Amino acid sequence: MPATIIVGAQWGDEGKAKVLDALMPDMDIVVRYQGGSNAGHTVVVGTERYAFHLVPSGILHDRKVCVIANGCVVEPVELMKEIDALRARGVRIDGSNLLLSERAHLVMPYHRLTDQMSEKRKESSGEGKIGTTGRGIGPCYVDKVARSGLRAIDLLRPDYFLLRVTQRLAELNPLLTAVYGVEPLDPKKVADEVLAFAPRLKPFIADTAAYLNGALAQGKALLLEGAQGSLLDIDHGTYPFVTSSNATSGGATTGTGISPRKITLAVGVAKAYVTRVGSGPFPTELTEKVGEGLRQRGVEFGTTTGRPRRCGWFDAVGIRYAVEVSGIDAIALTKLDVLTGEPEVKLCVTYDIGGRRVERFPCDHQALAAATPIYETMPGWNESIESVRSFAKLPPAARNFVKRIEELAGVPIRYVGVGRTRDAMIRRGKK
Ligand code: IMP
Repeated sequence: MPATIIVGAQWGDEGKAKVLDALMPDMDIVVRYQGGSNAGHTVVVGTERYAFHLVPSGILHDRKVCVIANGCVVEPVELMKEIDALRARGVRIDGSNLLLSERAHLVMPYHRLTDQMSEKRKESSGEGKIGTTGRGIGPCYVDKVARSGLRAIDLLRPDYFLLRVTQRLAELNPLLTAVYGVEPLDPKKVADEVLAFAPRLKPFIADTAAYLNGALAQGKALLLEGAQGSLLDIDHGTYPFVTSSNATSGGATTGTGISPRKITLAVGVAKAYVTRVGSGPFPTELTEKVGEGLRQRGVEFGTTTGRPRRCGWFDAVGIRYAVEVSGIDAIALTKLDVLTGEPEVKLCVTYDIGGRRVERFPCDHQALAAATPIYETMPGWNESIESVRSFAKLPPAARNFVKRIEELAGVPIRYVGVGRTRDAMIRRGKK
């Protein structure tokens, strides 16, 4: 497959890294297309644990090129930290296996500051916070769209860099002091702090759209790795409780400079239940014992912030919507084993909103918050499934659960995750 997208089909943390790992052997290049260090996943290789935020985990594989494309936002200090930590553990990273788009926007120190200050203000004013990761992602995308941002290419021209920071702070400083009550920032200090990373990042900065299109022309296989999930997409998600980028499949084209006509497959990743971090509506959320059980068994704590994730039953209304807006061709259903031991398992098939049955994921977050899920209840299973590697060998109740999700989603489930280890994955049908 020349260009395959891996996209989250829920609110993020679906286990995309594991699916990525399964597809990796057939790929030449792995590309991150949106988001920044708000994303996070852990990859376990043997006894080694690696935490990734920005660098695609493909870097652990020999002879793969990893690309942080133009749709991403990158904080130089964080990227360098991640590179240094990987290098310290013997991972080879240089300008030949990691490329950073010259067009990627930079997360500046004042983005992190305003993200955190804005959340604090929203909370204390009673307006209610978004529950962001506090990494400056939203404010960075705000500056990108407002045409006030700085891009990776600007690291290579210090005078222009300082000019842009000075212009941005001329507007931002009055806000920082008047609204957030903090000291104004000195443009020179801020610019120097970030420019200090320029020499070390320079070898990675490249025209990645040219590189990727050239690679496609040579018949190379690309894996386009989405961060977060379709329901956190800035356009299609549960606005305003979303991230600030296009986490749907569409982000893979604008975020890389690859034509939509080159995309050959979109694999949507969904857990056999649902999790969400941060605020926002979540119709199938389980606040008591069952939810706590899922959290503990599924180790549902954020990689980036350590926050406990909210847990709930599988939501077919959400998945149908994600399949549509992300053009998902096939689903990878992860963490089925976490449901083992539940006497019964539930699937939300439709919502009741104000006495009306609603089949379609609503745009209005207040309507979604008022939705009562209508469940189908199915028998659970007790047998451990972690060592099962063929669909036919799963307990009948687990098989029926997967088949029912497939029916409701309207696309085939090609992969089923059954445990923590790298190989704990069932493949069904053709890839
Ligand atoms: P931000 O992306 O830090 O601005 O946060 C916006 C919303 O997206 C919050 O609800 C976050 O919890 C959520 N979010 C951001 N990144 C991730 C992720 O990698 N997994 C799950 N949720 C995320």
